[in-house]
Amino acid sequence: MSLEQLLAWIPAGHPDAALARQINFDRLPAHVAVIMDGNGRWAAQRHLPRVEGHRAGIAAVRDTVETGARLGLGVLTLYAFSIENWKRPPSEISTLMMLLKRYLRSELKTLLSNNIRLRVIGRIGELAADVQDELRDAVERTAGSDGMLFNIALNYGGRAEIVDAARRAIESGIRADDLDEERFAQFLYTAGQPDPDLLVRTSGEMRVSNYLLWQIAYAEIYVTETLWPDFRRSHMLEAILAYQKRERRYGGITPARAVIGAK
Ligand code: IPE
Ligand code: IPE
Ligand code: MG
Repeated sequence: MSLEQLLAWIPAGHPDAALARQINFDRLPAHVAVIMDGNGRWAAQRHLPRVEGHRAGIAAVRDTVETGARLGLGVLTLYAFSIENWKRPPSEISTLMMLLKRYLRSELKTLLSNNIRLRVIGRIGELAADVQDELRDAVERTAGSDGMLFNIALNYGGRAEIVDAARRAIESGIRADDLDEERFAQFLYTAGQPDPDLLVRTSGEMRVSNYLLWQIAYAEIYVTETLWPDFRRSHMLEAILAYQKRERRYGGITPARAVIGAK
């Protein structure tokens, strides 16, 4: 999409309009990956149970997805549940799954009206059957969209993904000599997608928590103190603007300006 699409959604005179105008639409990240963190802390600050933070996080998801689509991002990947998150109390996990199902139902119309195609990455077969059904339905219904690709990382682990890719490579019968980085990437969950140019993490933690380990090799990392339930369009625009000020070198000695946002 474009500046016009973004401005059409921002009330006149709102400070986000000024942010939107600063964005260079020729140098957008092709893929933005987000670690949505800080829901528990958001709730704790309000003396609420952790699940209230997850509930409040839905509004941030909604805003971020629509901002991404209106900006014209190629791919947006949100980390919703890691393989390690099974260590949490069962009641918290079941609330997260319930919220996911509710989100998929309530947001389907918005996804379709923004021409968004949904995909799920992770060990989906290990999720409860009702969650899998809901996901399959939403993926199928948005399959005809050709705008932004929205990956939800669910029961996702970066190392697990690499192991799964290695298994698939072996099963495909590929010869060891034929395997290189490009061929291997075709066995990942994100086959055919550009690698993230920008990795955003909310709530200040300086770690990658087993997220897209292969794909973030040269991603620019942006960490904000904002807790996920408070994250909105303005924060997303700030992240893109910070990204556009970065000098990417890919191991060379001169800034690879032309590569920023390359699709
Ligand atoms: C992120 O918020 C949501 C998930 C990991 C599912 P957290 O629940 O990790 O919140 P904090 O990090 O405890 O504040
Ligand atoms: C990463 O957040 C996982 C998701 C956002 C789904 P965590 O809160 O689980 O990460 P750690 O435990 O702080 O590394
Ligand atoms: Mg956390």
